[in-house]
Amino acid sequence: MRPDSPPVPLEIDRKTSRKLTALTGLFPFILPYRAMIAAATFALMITAAVSLVLPLAVRRVVDNFNTSQEAILDQYFAAALGVALLLALGTAMRYALVTRLGERVVADIRKAVFDRVITMSPAFYENIMTGEVLSRITTDTTLILSVVGSSVSVALRNVLIFVGGLILMLVTSAKLTSLVLLIVPAILIPILTLGRRVRKLSKENQDWIAASSGTASEALSAVQTVQAFTHENETRQRFCDVTENSFHSASRRINTRAWMTLIVIFLVFAGIVGVLWVGARDVRSGVLTPGTLVQFVIYAVMVAGSVATLSEIWGELQRAAGATDRLVELLAIEDAVKDPISPTPRRANGQGAIRFEEVTFRYPSRPSAAALDGISLDIKPGETIALVGPSGAGKTTIIQLILRFYDPDSGRITLDGVELGKMRRDDFRQTMSLVSQNPMIFAATARENIRFGRPSASDQDIEAAAQAAAAHGFICDLPDGYDTYVGERGAMLSGGQKQRIAIARAILRDAPVLLLDEATSALDAESEVAVQQAVEALARDRTTIIVAHRLATVKKADRIVVFDQGRIIASGNHQALVAEGGLYARLARLQFTDGASAA
Ligand SMILES: Nc1ncnc2c1ncn2[C@@H]1O[C@H](COP(=O)(O)OP(=O)(O)OP(=O)(O)O)[C@@H](O)[C@H]1O
Ligand SMILES: [Mg+2]
Repeated sequence: MRPDSPPVPLEIDRKTSRKLTALTGLFPFILPYRAMIAAATFALMITAAVSLVLPLAVRRVVDNFNTSQEAILDQYFAAALGVALLLALGTAMRYALVTRLGERVVADIRKAVFDRVITMSPAFYENIMTGEVLSRITTDTTLILSVVGSSVSVALRNVLIFVGGLILMLVTSAKLTSLVLLIVPAILIPILTLGRRVRKLSKENQDWIAASSGTASEALSAVQTVQAFTHENETRQRFCDVTENSFHSASRRINTRAWMTLIVIFLVFAGIVGVLWVGARDVRSGVLTPGTLVQFVIYAVMVAGSVATLSEIWGELQRAAGATDRLVELLAIEDAVKDPISPTPRRANGQGAIRFEEVTFRYPSRPSAAALDGISLDIKPGETIALVGPSGAGKTTIIQLILRFYDPDSGRITLDGVELGKMRRDDFRQTMSLVSQNPMIFAATARENIRFGRPSASDQDIEAAAQAAAAHGFICDLPDGYDTYVGERGAMLSGGQKQRIAIARAILRDAPVLLLDEATSALDAESEVAVQQAVEALARDRTTIIVAHRLATVKKADRIVVFDQGRIIASGNHQALVAEGGLYARLARLQFTDGASAA
């Protein structure tokens, strides 16, 4: 399978310019370094000027070769030494400044893009693979590095040489120069037409590279599943296809650019040769001195060389324009969930009262089905609420909406009376502590993983939290205790151990709202009882929402809310719900008594 066009990773406005003007997207990143740019430009102009003056000196030497005295000749050569020094200094200075500028700008862009994507709500990641984002941050910025860090300055230098050289050519011989100018349009045509194609192919190429990173990072993060299902060949094939596609679009780009280079260089030098032929005849007939012709030739070669370099850099700039576009796209992308412009601060002494008022919600990636359908729920401060119901009923969705990972389609969700959308997310989320259904463990030590809940926590706090989460025992048994590195995504821990670290993290956070999504599902009975007690102690003065399939976990909740297909179908305490005899009673019968009778 080799699709013709790379997958479009983002639903974005494709009308944005694919032209060189896209490079203006870099301005905000370059402008802060005006001083550096000015210094680099100065160095560049000096070297360009020096290179342009050199041929004048050459003509004098050539024309005075036989006549002039030795002293003058010595002077010329001494001056040449000085010029060499100036050239060397200017070039080194330009290199140092410009390369540093490139690195600086790219580092800034990388940070800006990362800063942006780290705040994106989950809907964004439903449409793009994380590997693709990484590819943009790494490969696309590398292209920009080559442009800012060298191409632009080389281009500028060559533009100066081109313009200056052309003027000096005119001064040297107007006749020969006008002949040269006749061939310029012939050169511009291939640059413009083929250049457009290069630009298109370059964007396509980068898209394929991003797709290939996305595919690889997904497969690698699920490497055990791939191997367990002996899916290596298929996975390999998929990566191979995408990578080959990226190669093919790269080679089409390279071919186009090679043709462009061939045509341009040939036309330029053919033109010069033709003009020289005319010049050589002029020298024979005495219209030109040999020195003047040499001078003209040097300028012509310089100008031609600058055109050749420029045509090559043109391609580079096109690629960088594509890359800039892709990065600017990421920077400019609108998050589906936005913080208000003038946010209301969260209630300073808020107790964690949460209200759902007629909330209906559909996941953006699945608009056909309502994940929540007209939910009204009033959770009082300090109350412990249990959400139960079949898989897919919408329990996790409730928690995601409380954290405002998504906005409801209709209805309101308030925290302490303030609508979530009126506050900054990072503000009200500070009052919340989450143990998610798939607890995330980071590639760090056990201690750092728990500290994630509250970065300012002391080691004692961390151990106390671990103790409460029944994690202290197993952590102490790890090779380096709390300082044991637990592997990427906690690869060195068991499922239940990961859960307990996640619970310890939530306990450490010590927030007024506690959200537990199947937090103890992977624990053995003994640890579960231990964790249960800790959670109960914690829940006493906090608003707590517990999602659990095991009803033993939720029996003691103040209120149990039964969900089914995005709706609340019953609520009340354990006894009341069992007495009512609905879905809950049926589940309770199954779980507590092997189906014989309700507990
Ligand atoms: N990101 C998503 N995009 C689209 N649909 C989703 C998404 N997440 C969940 N859903 C759908 O929304 C519905 C509710 O899912 P939810 O995760 O809230 O169920 P749940 O009650 O937590 O189930 P479980 O007990 O299995 O965890 C399901 O039908 C699910 O397929
Ligand atoms: Mg769930």
